[in-house]
Amino acid sequence: KILVVNLGGQYAHLIARRIREIGAYAEIASYDSVLEVAKSDEVKAIVLSGGPASVYEPNSPDLPVDLLYLGKPVLGICFGHQWIAKKLGGVVERGKGEYGKTMVRILSSDPLFEGWEAEEVVWMSHSDYVKEVPSGFQVLAVSENGYVAAMRSGHIYGVQFHPEVRHTAKGVRLLENFVRKVAGIKSVWVPEEQVGKIVEEIKARVKEGIVVVGVSGGVDSTVTAVLLHMALGSRVKAVFIDHGLFREGEPEKAVQLLRSIGIDVLYIDARERFLKKLDGVSDCEEKRRIVGETFAEVFTEVVAGIPNAKYLAQGTLYPDVIESGAVKGADRIKSHHNVGGIPSWFSLELIEPLRDFYKDEVRRIAKSLGLPDEVVYRHPFPGPGLAVRIIGPFTLEKLEIVRRATKIVEEELDRAGLLRKVWQAFATVGEDKWVGVKGDRRAEGYIVTVRVVESEDAMTADWAKIPHDVLDKIASRIASEIPHVTMVTYAITSKPPSTIEPC
Ligand code: XMP
Repeated sequence: KILVVNLGGQYAHLIARRIREIGAYAEIASYDSVLEVAKSDEVKAIVLSGGPASVYEPNSPDLPVDLLYLGKPVLGICFGHQWIAKKLGGVVERGKGEYGKTMVRILSSDPLFEGWEAEEVVWMSHSDYVKEVPSGFQVLAVSENGYVAAMRSGHIYGVQFHPEVRHTAKGVRLLENFVRKVAGIKSVWVPEEQVGKIVEEIKARVKEGIVVVGVSGGVDSTVTAVLLHMALGSRVKAVFIDHGLFREGEPEKAVQLLRSIGIDVLYIDARERFLKKLDGVSDCEEKRRIVGETFAEVFTEVVAGIPNAKYLAQGTLYPDVIESGAVKGADRIKSHHNVGGIPSWFSLELIEPLRDFYKDEVRRIAKSLGLPDEVVYRHPFPGPGLAVRIIGPFTLEKLEIVRRATKIVEEELDRAGLLRKVWQAFATVGEDKWVGVKGDRRAEGYIVTVRVVESEDAMTADWAKIPHDVLDKIASRIASEIPHVTMVTYAITSKPPSTIEPC
């Protein structure tokens, strides 16, 4: 495997995902405990990620220099590149900086740059730069602004740009060269092939008792339930808590699908309990808190009623495992995820069969398990559901508007063959009103805002350039089919500076 050392920021996951997409296995390691892990025979190469710090700041991430003397290929990226330079006696200084697409010139042919032209576009994001490479290092590439863009000494490489970012035209090729040519890794990583191993691990761990799994119809919890069922059969109890904030038809479909596979599902209709508490609440975080807290209450009650419940399974993914504190140095950008989480005092033992996987890998596993496309390609949906798509006071009327409008958005995108191509697509509603003409009468109605975004990991997102005729269809259907809606707008701000959800 390849160890991706997280030196802060969000880059390490992107690097690991890209390496896995290439078909090699990558894992993230924390910089303060990496040396022992890196010594293992299983580790064939090491990538040092970028990060927001400066190598000459007193508390910046630091690694034992021995990491560079294990005889294993090392690729330092951005901060990682500068760390190598400084550690081995080069000079790193603050420069004018390079941000965004930048041209680099390749100075000498090297296996790392196989398939690259003499000049290529890369993605830069740095103000520090390597002023002098350490002795014994060769400069492999320079940027249009004259900065060292790549360097090498033996099996140690550094690149100032970000090969893991899509804007680096041949970035994936470079990572592939590093994995296959420099490190000589031949093995092929296929997530679907892990199913047997996951099932065996569950069997080995759960000797007796019932495993409870909360399901929501999403791909992660559905795959979790199916894997558990493969391992344990009738000893799995799926719990679907209906908080009344799902999309149209979602609870019925989710429950039906799991039952058709033979999984025992307990459907809990808790709609009134959630919706009563939300009534009139305006503040977003308060809405999240109410849904999370109520979910925990209901779930606890339900589990208390399941005889011999010993384990709780969750569809936690790899980024959440790392984010929840396993790796130091990474800034936590968001803390609101997985609301509806289970309180820490909860007494069941936790099982997380998907904790080694990224979302796209879970989708591949889902596909290989024969789950329907509707589940495999389902968009991420927030734990607090449609509650975070209502701006201002929560009312049942707004909930219905959002629910019906979202259905129209999904139907029309699906009809145009676009639904699967985008990351998320939904409708929101707020307090502002617009005067409209319905029938022959002037009437004030709600403004529905449609949001469709493209993204790879929700950290950044671009508003989707949906063809006008599709938007037109969506807008006219929403305004004519849903009472009290007189205007439809389309959200055209990307993330950042906006977030994906309105609230
Ligand atoms: P934002 O709106 O922060 O969302 O750009 C990023 C991604 O996270 C989802 N999201 C949530 N998921 N509970 C969740 O489980 C939440 O409270 C929540 N808020 C946002 C959002 O749908 C997007 O995919």
